[in-house]
Order: sequence, then C-alpha cells, then structure tokens
Amino acid sequence: MDKFIQGCMRIKDMTVSQVRELIDANLEMGINVFDHADIYGGGECETLFGKALKEAPELRDKIVLQTKGGIVKDLSCHRYDNSANYLIDCVHKSIKRLGVEKVNRFLIHRPDALFNPDDVAKAFDKLSSEGTVDEFGVSNFAGSQIALLQNSCKQKFQYNQVRVSIFHCPMIEYGMNYNRFNDAGVNRDDGTLDYCRLNNVQIQCYSPNKGNKKSFIGDFKYPKLNKLLKELAFKYDVAPNAIAAAWLLKHPAGFAVINGTTQPERVKQIAKAKDISLTRSEWYDLYHSLGRKLP
Ligand SMILES: NC(=O)c1ccc[n+]([C@@H]2O[C@H](COP(=O)([O-])OP(=O)(O)OC[C@H]3O[C@@H](n4cnc5c(N)ncnc54)[C@H](OP(=O)(O)O)[C@@H]3O)[C@@H](O)[C@H]2O)c1
Repeated sequence: MDKFIQGCMRIKDMTVSQVRELIDANLEMGINVFDHADIYGGGECETLFGKALKEAPELRDKIVLQTKGGIVKDLSCHRYDNSANYLIDCVHKSIKRLGVEKVNRFLIHRPDALFNPDDVAKAFDKLSSEGTVDEFGVSNFAGSQIALLQNSCKQKFQYNQVRVSIFHCPMIEYGMNYNRFNDAGVNRDDGTLDYCRLNNVQIQCYSPNKGNKKSFIGDFKYPKLNKLLKELAFKYDVAPNAIAAAWLLKHPAGFAVINGTTQPERVKQIAKAKDISLTRSEWYDLYHSLGRKLP
C-alpha cells in the first residue's frame, strides 16, 4: 500500500529541470507514485511531466503514473462526464501528453450524475484490453457509488481519492458523532470510510496541508493547531508538515498522503512521517486543536 504520492496539480509553472528535481526527491524518499489529471493546468502539467520523462526515459520504469478524467472544463458549462467514450478519450489524451504507452492507474475524477455503471464497465474493459490502464479507481466518490460501479465492472476499484487532512476530515468525524444533532453528526461520508476499509479500496488523501485557501501550516488563523504542530515537530525532530502527514498515516485504514508541494525539500521533510507513530493522545490533541468537541 502506498504511504505517499506526489501530486502534480501545481507543477504547471515549473521548468522541466525543476520537475525532474521533484521526481528525483520523491524517488530518493522511496515515493514513486505521481498523481495527474487531464485538467491540471489545462493539460500543461501532464505535458510538462512528459517532457521530463522524455529527457530521462529510464525514469518510466521506476515510477507509477496515475491520472484522472471525468471533469469537463467547458467555460460555457462546467460539468462531469463519465460516459464510456469520454473516459476512453481522456486516457488516450493523457497518454499522449505524458508521452507514454500506458498509465498505471486511471481514476474517475468526480461522479457524474448521469453515469451509467454499464457504460463505465465498457470503458474499463476497452482500456484494460488495449493495455492502456493497469488499475482503476475513483476520486470524490461515496462508498455507495463505488458499490454501484463495482457491481457492473470486472476490474476492481482499488483507490478513492478524497480530501482529508487534520483541517478537513468529515469522513473521520462522522464516526465519532453518530446519532448526535451536532454538525459533525451530519453524515457527509455516506459510510465511505467503512466501505473502503471493508473492500480494500485505499483512500488517497488530497490537500493534506491545505486549509480553506492556503496551507494551515504557519497560518496565524489556526494558532492552537500550529503551536501543537511545532511542539510535536520538535519532539519527533521533523518539520510540522511531517506531523500533519503522520496524523493521516496513524489512521488504521491505511491512507496514502498526496503531497501537493512543488518543493523537493518539503517532499523530503514530509516523507519523514513514515517513521513517526503519534500517540493516541497526540492524535486527538491535534484533532481538538481546531476547536472541535467530542460527545
Ligand atoms: N481528486 C481531486 O479532486 C483533487 C483535488 C485537489 C488535489 N488533488 C491532488 O492532490 C494533490 C495535493 O493537493 P494539494 O496541492 O491541495 O495538497 P497540499 O499538500 O495540501 O498543498 C500543497 C500546497 O501547500 C503549500 N504549502 C505551504 N506551506 C507548506 C508546507 N509547510 N508544507 C507543504 N506544503 C505547503 C505548497 O506550496 P509549495 O509548493 O511552495 O510547497 C502547495 O501550494 C494535488 O497535486 C493533486 O494531485 C486531487
């Protein structure tokens, strides 16, 4: 199971050699999965990554390429499209931009209200049989939606990419607030965490350092959280961002953390989280540091 993934959503303005440095920093830390989507930078992120691979083709066998499709960036009508032809086309275009023969993983980026599970099955069969995708998954899907798709698709849904962090964790909070009238007791998760655990669908946590608009790390709006992150960083001899990752890695579901940083040095800082096991009280203290109350 992956512990870390490098997100490529923010690489658009980097140079090819900076992207190469980012890839190398990840590989040095044992991180070999790179997450893309057709829409990142309007396709520019995949193109740029493809240029880095072209300059160093030996990297291809060392990395796992993951991409996503299903969000339509149409200025006249923002929408989702999980139809067979659309998904197949997404993969073909991503492969072309990345300059590779196949992607190792393809995830449907968001659930389309009009999705037909049999149509998705058709797309997955075609992509599997032509060898352009090895593994499949989803992103931002509820457990019940994955179950619906899995009922029609032969290929196992292996991943669900969801926003989770100390800052944003309704998926985790709901379980502790079941049957309460408070806000955290509202079931926004639809049992997705439990579904994924029961069915071996790994949850990939995106925006692990992100608050509302910017990183919560060092943001004066969250003084208690930052004080605690600093104290724990001192105790474990790491940077605060590694503590934020350790909080996710502590969860027994076996989350993968998708780092969005573009800085090789931060990749190395965060990767140290794999050697940290926060105590239960540290984990709960971090949870409480944003002013949450438990029943
Ligand atoms: N499936 C989806 O719907 C979805 C949605 C969003 C993202 N994603 C995926 O998840 C990945 C990660 O998302 P994200 O970029 O929002 O993740 P993130 O790791 O929470 O945020 C990274 C951003 O925080 C900044 N940052 C500031 N201080 C930092 C610190 N001390 N440590 C680390 N980062 C710090 C980074 O800047 P620097 O670059 O300067 O470090 C970067 O701009 C994306 O690249 C993408 O692959 C998926």
